[in-house]
Amino acid sequence: MFTKTEHYVRATQLADVLATGSLVIYIEGHTLLLCSSGDKIYAVDNRCPHMGFPLHQGTVKDCILTCDWHHARFDLTSGGTFDSWADDVRAFPVEIRDGEVWVDLAPKVEPENYHRQRLTDGLEQGISLVIAKSAIAMLDSGVNATEPFRIGLNFGARYRNKRGSMKAPVF
Ligand code: FES
Repeated sequence: MFTKTEHYVRATQLADVLATGSLVIYIEGHTLLLCSSGDKIYAVDNRCPHMGFPLHQGTVKDCILTCDWHHARFDLTSGGTFDSWADDVRAFPVEIRDGEVWVDLAPKVEPENYHRQRLTDGLEQGISLVIAKSAIAMLDSGVNATEPFRIGLNFGARYRNKRGSMKAPVF
């Protein structure tokens, strides 16, 4: 049964992915890595969210994609990372239709909220790269420039008496 959304786009033949286990495709402004793992096909952004290494040079085992540069690991189903210093990679829903791979390219829902949470995560865990990327992503998505500043101020005010217990930033 096909999912009824207007955002599914035909990506390639299923046989093309199965032939090598993975395939990079360029489609509607996205560079996607299609992978087979078990009996399923997955699609993720091919750019590592940590520092941009091409994920097709990584390895896949047991539905976990490991970037070849700093070895961040990602769940292929959700794109969620197992390594908080990296970030989640965007995963795209996939359907197989008559021997073809179709990928849902629907825009992310409320990316601002995701980046707000990541900024808070970065502050709580003392990860400078996550803090910087989240603040920049918030600005790119049209959030007022005072918003990431306000989140940082609130965090500082909340934890000002616990200074010694917070982690030092990781660069
Ligand atoms: S660029 Fe992928 S883990 Fe650093």
